[in-house]
Amino acid sequence: LSLPIYSNTTDLTNPSTFILMGIPGLEAAHVWISIPFCVIYLIAILGNFTILFIVKREPSLHGPMYYFLCMLAFSDLVLSTSTLPKMLSIFWFNSREIDFSACLSQMYFIHCFSTMESGILVAMAFDRYVSICHPLRHSTILTSPVVAKIGLAIVLRSGILVLPYPFLVRQWPYCRTNIIPHSYCEHIAVVNLACADTRMSSYYGLFVLFSVIGLDVFFITVSYTQIIRAILCLPTKDARLKTFGTCSSHLCAILALYIPDFFSSLTHRQRISAGSTHDEPHHLWGQN
Ligand SMILES: *[C@@H]1O[C@H](CO)[C@@H](O)[C@H](O)[C@H]1NC(C)=O
Repeated sequence: LSLPIYSNTTDLTNPSTFILMGIPGLEAAHVWISIPFCVIYLIAILGNFTILFIVKREPSLHGPMYYFLCMLAFSDLVLSTSTLPKMLSIFWFNSREIDFSACLSQMYFIHCFSTMESGILVAMAFDRYVSICHPLRHSTILTSPVVAKIGLAIVLRSGILVLPYPFLVRQWPYCRTNIIPHSYCEHIAVVNLACADTRMSSYYGLFVLFSVIGLDVFFITVSYTQIIRAILCLPTKDARLKTFGTCSSHLCAILALYIPDFFSSLTHRQRISAGSTHDEPHHLWGQN
């Protein structure tokens, strides 16, 4: 066992590395778990690059909806590439060490790009709203400069909102342990390791979670209420189905993003209130 593991008694203010546990309790199954992860990762890379490639090649797809789709594909690529390769190397090569600064960058990328995805879904909902409820004005409202400005606003919002995460995390002292009971550097999972009053990080994380998800879900709901009202007013069943078809896949993407995101953030918080579980990983690790 050559990794530098800090025990409870070590006084340590600035760990140079953290240790990612992978999936605590399932160490024995890591190799098996890695197979679906790897397959899904490869499919996601291939699928998202295909989207970017096709939209670039096909001039008829050069419209707002497909530009937003490309932004989504790009952030999916960044998001999965900032987590999966390290996760797979934990599963396959047991390389659990991660540099402190690498951990902070990973944290920034994960939270920045998932916030961005949320913003892109709002932009897509807005695009569907304009195209279904104001079809004649769609091309004058969502012009290329407007799409570019929306994109910039989405990038700036998440880039700035998430910036305090690594800066706050960096200033906390870490003395208990440097073992993260997780497969990547999730913000709250790292904050939980600090031995100081980390309420600032916790509250700021909650503020971002609720201001981003709260606002975005609100805007998406408003858009879709209008869309559904407009669809229900269409004269024939055929027209209703056809119009609904243009936004059903978008609805699925929305559900697939928000539901896991929201619950994953809440379960991490559960651990804080459920008391300290920081010491458990020592035992698991010790068995290896
Ligand atoms: C793009 O990547 C995400 C995960 O990062 C994945 O869920 C999605 O299915 C991918 N898209 C395609 C078309 O493969």
